[in-house]
Amino acid sequence: MAEVKRLDKFISECFELSRSVIGKEVRARHVLVNGEIVRDPATKVSVGDLVQLNDLEVEVFDKLYFMVNKPKGCVCANDDANYPIVFSYIEEYGIHSCHCVGRLDLDTTGLILITNDGQWSHRIASPKHHFGKVYEVTLAVPIDEQQIKKLENGILLNGEKKETAPAGVTVKDPLHIELNIFEGKYHQVKRMIAAVGNEVLELNRISIGDLKLDPNLEPGEYRFLTEEEIGMF
Ligand code: URA
Repeated sequence: MAEVKRLDKFISECFELSRSVIGKEVRARHVLVNGEIVRDPATKVSVGDLVQLNDLEVEVFDKLYFMVNKPKGCVCANDDANYPIVFSYIEEYGIHSCHCVGRLDLDTTGLILITNDGQWSHRIASPKHHFGKVYEVTLAVPIDEQQIKKLENGILLNGEKKETAPAGVTVKDPLHIELNIFEGKYHQVKRMIAAVGNEVLELNRISIGDLKLDPNLEPGEYRFLTEEEIGMF
């Protein structure tokens, strides 16, 4: 099988240990690959190899990809003094090597992607690739034709030089719309809705590109993406 990475790099990603601690464990003969004691922390390991460190064991993996149904009250950050972080819902080795693909606000719910594949997340985030993000929006006052037209045509938001790209608006009922946007500006949906004279009461992301939030995931639950889903971006 193809060589993927150095043993010490893999162990450090997996168990959040420093390279010097791993070096000590190797010298103490506490690290095994496929049942054999390893003497060199720079040994190359491949996907599927079994790594043991004392009583911990894990199969070597390469990239990780998850979808999470983000609940309210957690933040898309690697640490936070006041709120739980979205990564705390994922109990998998290697999670601390991962990042969020974009961000959702503290009070926004729904689909957030998490990975340690920087190129993949860059493709999704880049407006160049035109992956729409669909949000269910609950509004404070009924939406009217004029507001819909403005959202569809693009709006110059405070502090921005360019108008927002044309958005898709699907009206479910006058207080509930689905908004499909193609950029990821700071608080974009809330600012767009405010700019047309309305207000967001609830915000829930249901899809990114063709990838939909799995309806089986309750808020706070996650699952690995399938190969097909990873290949959508
Ligand atoms: N737009 C917002 O205003 N908030 C989010 O969390 C996502 C998009």
